[in-house]
Amino acid sequence: MAAEEAVGAPPAVASQVEEKKGTSQQIDPYNVAGEVDESGNIKAIDYDRLIQEFGVQPLTEDHLRRFEAVTGKKAHRLMRRKLFFSHRDFDKILDTYEQYGTFMLYTGRGPSSGSMHLGHTVPFLFTKELQDMFDVPLVIMLTDDEKYLYTRNKNEGHQKAGAAADDFLDYAYENIKDIIALGFDPKKTFIYTDYEYLGGHFYRNVSEFESLVTFNQASGAFGFGNSTNIGLIAYGAKQCVAAFPSSYPDLFGYKDYRAPEYDLSAKRRHKPLSTIPTLIPCAIDQEPYFRILRDRCDRMTDPHPKTALILSKFLTALQGPGGKMSASDPNSAIFMSDTPNQIKNKINRHAFSGGRESLEEHRKLGGNPDVDVAYTYLSYFLDDDEELEELASKYRSGELLTGEMKQRCIAELQKFVGAFQEKREGVTHEIMREYMRPRRLEYQGNPNPTRPASSAPPANGVPAAEDAGAEKKGDGRGTKGERKAAKLAAKKEEKMATRQKAPDGDGGASSPAA
Ligand code: TYM
Repeated sequence: MAAEEAVGAPPAVASQVEEKKGTSQQIDPYNVAGEVDESGNIKAIDYDRLIQEFGVQPLTEDHLRRFEAVTGKKAHRLMRRKLFFSHRDFDKILDTYEQYGTFMLYTGRGPSSGSMHLGHTVPFLFTKELQDMFDVPLVIMLTDDEKYLYTRNKNEGHQKAGAAADDFLDYAYENIKDIIALGFDPKKTFIYTDYEYLGGHFYRNVSEFESLVTFNQASGAFGFGNSTNIGLIAYGAKQCVAAFPSSYPDLFGYKDYRAPEYDLSAKRRHKPLSTIPTLIPCAIDQEPYFRILRDRCDRMTDPHPKTALILSKFLTALQGPGGKMSASDPNSAIFMSDTPNQIKNKINRHAFSGGRESLEEHRKLGGNPDVDVAYTYLSYFLDDDEELEELASKYRSGELLTGEMKQRCIAELQKFVGAFQEKREGVTHEIMREYMRPRRLEYQGNPNPTRPASSAPPANGVPAAEDAGAEKKGDGRGTKGERKAAKLAAKKEEKMATRQKAPDGDGGASSPAA
């Protein structure tokens, strides 16, 4: 395999695909399934193996201690319990925050249905916690385009009812309201859908990144073939460059050059923004995108630092730990729109139990909380460490029965989903639009960085004069050199327009408006 082809494929998997076909665990943005043994039993996802195969780093006790020392706060339960279990360069993000004061957070959602499920809230809950702790800007991408292309691909080119591009934009709006209901600060959060926002500097980054990634890399990472539609093949570049702060000049007080203000001085992408590092919290299924991103980001005209990742496990399907909760299988998931009764029935009827066959056996031998879905859900949503520990030990000893574990889980999920729904009701169209407005975000970052005025990355996202070199200005006018180049370009353009007008003197068909 040529060196460049290996980029997209997880290093260890690439060589194993042949002998394990059909039975090995498969994790990528479009497939999450545990290994199937010879008898057809689905095994739990093996996260240690994933760490090896993907080449990511485990999140250790040392990271936890360092995180708590840097933020001065107790780590979120999802981190304490290693449900966020692996990372890439998380330590470097902590260094950046300590030294320079800020970084950008980026995460996203593919709006495949009108309501998010419980599993989707996991990265968002954690991202909100990080935003609150670090006081940094956050962008949230809604990939209506991806879901449209993916669904159409899955349906072999057919466009089914409820699966037109317009429908996915509608799902995106509903999902954005769900995300807002989780409590993000509007002053430092920008949320957008691809169908609405892509253009300007963002799209220039897309185009450039597309030119850096081959079909071989994309198919290696996502399993594309000759019949995959070309939209889906190219889509990954968008999810990648969404991690570049230079894709969002408006958020950092710089100008984009889109109509109606068409301003040539802001034509060039802003170099200082390429120095701001980014951290992406998400489940590990999204890692293949960012593997490609990290491999190619330094080849951009303005090279960006390698994006850091903090990666979670999957909230399992109701049926057990071999798959993830999935919106396309309603019986596998608890939706954020479910009623208390639906939650109760789903847990009671479908949640896989780690208990024994009979009451006597359970009392005598005890149950296994590690595979018990009700207990697993509690480990994500019950904040009290002591109670969680007690539930596990009583279950193991046989004192606590499956029915009782399920009752505790039902109560906790009803509380979480109920509180969410109350907030969600208050999210109006106007509130949603405010989050979606490109505007300068307000954040402070680390109040006491150790190297605030030294070299990049710049404090607070906008470079101080000494950060960006004497000629840099954080007012969106660009550097002296950039302004000179823009002036020259404007003159050239003017000349061209005059030349085109010349033959008939009235602009005619070659005028810019034609
Ligand atoms: P999507 O909509 O599949 O998932 C949204 C986010 O939820 C995570 N996730 C889960 N986490 C825990 N348990 C589960 N059962 C579970 N199912 C999904 C995903 O990892 C993701 O973080 N292409 C993306 C949208 C996207 C994105 C991003 C995601 C665009 N840019 C940047 C993360 C980071 C998608 O379809 O996500």
